[in-house]
Amino acid sequence: MAIVGGSAELNTGAQIPIIGLGTASMNTNEEDIKAAVIAALQVGYRHFDTARVYGSEHALGKALNSAFQSGLVSREDVFVTTKLRNTEHDDPVAAIKDSLINLQLEYVDLFLIHWPIKLRTEIPLTPLKEEDFLPLDIKSTWQGMEQCMEMGLTKAIGVSNFSCKKIEDLLKHAKIPPAVDQVEMHPHWHQKKLRDYCSKHNIHVSAWSPLGAPNTPWGSNAVMDNPLFQEIAQKHEKTRAQVMLRWGLEQGVSVLPKSYNAGRIAENFQVFDWSLTSDDHDKISKLEQKKIQQGELFVNSTTSPYKTLEELWDGEI
Ligand SMILES: NC(=O)c1ccc[n+]([C@@H]2O[C@H](COP(=O)([O-])OP(=O)(O)OC[C@H]3O[C@@H](n4cnc5c(N)ncnc54)[C@H](OP(=O)(O)O)[C@@H]3O)[C@@H](O)[C@H]2O)c1
Repeated sequence: MAIVGGSAELNTGAQIPIIGLGTASMNTNEEDIKAAVIAALQVGYRHFDTARVYGSEHALGKALNSAFQSGLVSREDVFVTTKLRNTEHDDPVAAIKDSLINLQLEYVDLFLIHWPIKLRTEIPLTPLKEEDFLPLDIKSTWQGMEQCMEMGLTKAIGVSNFSCKKIEDLLKHAKIPPAVDQVEMHPHWHQKKLRDYCSKHNIHVSAWSPLGAPNTPWGSNAVMDNPLFQEIAQKHEKTRAQVMLRWGLEQGVSVLPKSYNAGRIAENFQVFDWSLTSDDHDKISKLEQKKIQQGELFVNSTTSPYKTLEELWDGEI
């Protein structure tokens, strides 16, 4: 089945649909997530982004399973990404097997190391203590990720929140190179250096928080509220969110907007039959750059492998 809206080719040869529905939310109500997934499938989404830590795998699995049963889509039509928790670096195979039970799937399409950080315990959005950090051995974590792929539990493996340097270090000992780096990217955080690096190494970039994550505890309304997007949106008779998503697509990345609102889910998918002008790109290219989620919680001067934010992002901040 053709992917509505288009796809990009991964270094495995598989296609990744360039719009995916994000599922990180304070709202983990199963019925709301299921309704959002079904609404997304109905308007053409074929890519779903989840993670162990979001608490959305189970509801996503239920929704997909009911869509397979009803014939709305088949397993081969959808692309499902999930991620290794920071507490699961010792055994990626056991972790993905748990995810597959939650998702009611035999394989995922993409399995990512969520962060370059290894923790003993983690409760989302609560501060970490010094004793929560464990020494990171990314080589052994990656071997476990490779094993997941060799066992057919995932079709591709990749990373998330990795700088160019961290990918470069990984490539030195990877048997299977990462297919994807999923990172924060929106018009206020262009990720130009990382995109150039990934393009040279045939690694696809996916944009998380492509709208700047308005109205979330981890995001900001600053991107959405920038008057430039209202101006560009009015000119094209589109919405601000559509302008931001279209901008991401025109940079050659896939975008993962999260919404559990049927109207906004449909709105975010209407980004294929029009384009931004070079004047729009010029204005967006001049916007002040500021990473919203800097990952301060992963930095400390004693037990974290990263004593400073500079070290966490290898200066790319
Ligand atoms: N790998 C990582 O470390 C990482 C980190 C963060 C996120 N992610 C992934 O990326 C996905 C997206 O990122 P995100 O959830 O942080 O941020 P986002 O997609 O940029 O923004 C989500 C917020 O925007 C609202 N929204 C959605 N469409 C809208 C529209 N058309 N107009 C106005 N508001 C709209 C949503 O509310 P409603 O639901 O009410 O519409 C929600 O509050 C996540 O869900 C997750 O799957 C990955």
